[in-house]
Amino acid sequence: MTQYPVNMDITPVVEAFFDPATNTISYIVKDPTSDACAIIDSVMDIDYAAGRITYDHADAMIARVQQMGCRLEWIIETHVHADHLSAAPYIQERLGGKIGIGSKIMVVQDTFGKVFNEGTEFQRDGSQFDALFEDGDTYQIGNMQGFAIYTPGHTPACMVHVIGNAAFVGDTLFMPDGGSARCDFPGGSAEDLYDSIMKVLALPDAMRLFMCHDYGPNGRDIQWETTVGEEKEHNIHVGRGRTKADFITFRTERDAQLDMPRLIIPSLQVNMRAGAVPTDSDGNPMLKVPINGL
Ligand SMILES: [Fe+2]
Repeated sequence: MTQYPVNMDITPVVEAFFDPATNTISYIVKDPTSDACAIIDSVMDIDYAAGRITYDHADAMIARVQQMGCRLEWIIETHVHADHLSAAPYIQERLGGKIGIGSKIMVVQDTFGKVFNEGTEFQRDGSQFDALFEDGDTYQIGNMQGFAIYTPGHTPACMVHVIGNAAFVGDTLFMPDGGSARCDFPGGSAEDLYDSIMKVLALPDAMRLFMCHDYGPNGRDIQWETTVGEEKEHNIHVGRGRTKADFITFRTERDAQLDMPRLIIPSLQVNMRAGAVPTDSDGNPMLKVPINGL
């Protein structure tokens, strides 16, 4: 078992930016003792029907970083998202910072490089990113140390990022009344997700957890923050009394009924390139739609 350098004495300032088009929550995470910050899971806006990309969500985050007078050190992706496009390169161009993701991105690039028939010019070595994290890797945001926990299951490259007493769980857990993320994309595994969730729930009960998504189940308002203690007690998929075998059966049956996310086709092509839009042979931004390929 990896020993993780948990430090509950650091309380980063966390600001959430909710994207109603994809129910994604992006975060600015600021060091309270310096001007350093990070952005986690940014969003680039797309009108897929029109093939039009815009940057309102990212612009709001950029403006806030500038307003706070912060230095952006990291642009982190918890995983290759299948439901929204990353704005990482757009933000990096304006604010700097290193783009980081889990090292298993190479597995995802290999899988979807084939699905989208990307050919040899598409590198499958993660080289589109500035940093590839392994389980337990640490990094600095000013005086704060962050670390990555390898949490496969939803995808093979998922990582949870822990910075002081705040953990950014990506698509492992949802709010207690939302449960857990699906595991039926290529390389997903309900068994792995259960083990990954147990790693998150082994963090201190007071650890703040920040969701990547919330869908406001049963008509409640959108929420994104809870704690390890709350999830252990109340999570409807993995809370008290749910065995691993129960979870795998339940998750597999549920996933079989889910539709593909509306933006999976553009999201994968962009996000496996660290947020860069692919181009055609003339250099024009262009996306593909593989027929019956997913
Ligand atoms: Fe996801």
